[in-house]
Amino acid sequence: MNTVENIKDLRAQVKAWRMQDLTVAFVPTMGNLHEGHLALVKAAHRYADKVIVSIFVNPMQFGLSEDIDNYPRTLAQDKASLITVNTDLLFTPTADIIYPKGFGENSYVEVPNISELYCGASRPGHFRGVATVVCKLFNLVQPDVACFGSKDYQQLQVIKTMVEDLSMPVDIIPVEIIREKSGLAMSSRNGYLTSEELAIAPAFYKTLQWLSEQLRASHQPRDYAALVMQASEKIDNAGLKTDYLNLCHAQTLAPVTPNDKDIVILAAAYLGKARLIDNLPVNL
Ligand code: PAF
Repeated sequence: MNTVENIKDLRAQVKAWRMQDLTVAFVPTMGNLHEGHLALVKAAHRYADKVIVSIFVNPMQFGLSEDIDNYPRTLAQDKASLITVNTDLLFTPTADIIYPKGFGENSYVEVPNISELYCGASRPGHFRGVATVVCKLFNLVQPDVACFGSKDYQQLQVIKTMVEDLSMPVDIIPVEIIREKSGLAMSSRNGYLTSEELAIAPAFYKTLQWLSEQLRASHQPRDYAALVMQASEKIDNAGLKTDYLNLCHAQTLAPVTPNDKDIVILAAAYLGKARLIDNLPVNL
């Protein structure tokens, strides 16, 4: 696996592949890779001849109160993991390369409405940072397809909307959530959990499963608000603190209406130093 840090080397490699008529899949990450990321790379191989992974801890998507300096950086370990899944090229730009003027001075991409809901409300500016860096990385890599984890469900919908609205020539491939045996969705943020918190954390997904069962067992008119309140209480009683728990239209993420059939349960909860997110699509 070749690693490049600068744009010139990245473009030279992509150009060489293009001249051989090879297709390119892209997996953007912030590093500290786990099985969930490796599943993205494995999926990417099914869609293209070559797979490029980027590792860039994007300052633009962190809020002022969020500790970017302590975000886990494990490059040597990440490289070793990426080799096991046959990554063809790793791109590890610095912030100066991505934001030469500083990200406050940079042009940016704003995906309206969907970016302001849920995680966007809890983390103002977060999705502007995500959309901007993903747009920039797409322009640098110019992939045919890009793979994103479904755990970050809202992020996935923001990116799909950006790609559609701006006619970007890249297919977005959602890849299913990889979970621990306990049901806990794999995440770099799980690394912040103590062993005591790790024992509590599975209650989060178990509650989403409970809510999904309740929804499927009940009939219209469903009392969505009461079910959501009960589920939030279950999460809080287990020792987490619900940030939000919402039933949404699966694509627009607008609050559920009685006519919606494809919905998704979206949730975020605090546990110790971690803010966990998870989701569960439900077909009614
Ligand atoms: O999901 C992530 O790791 C990040 O939000 C992404 C898509 C790599 C953009 O920085």
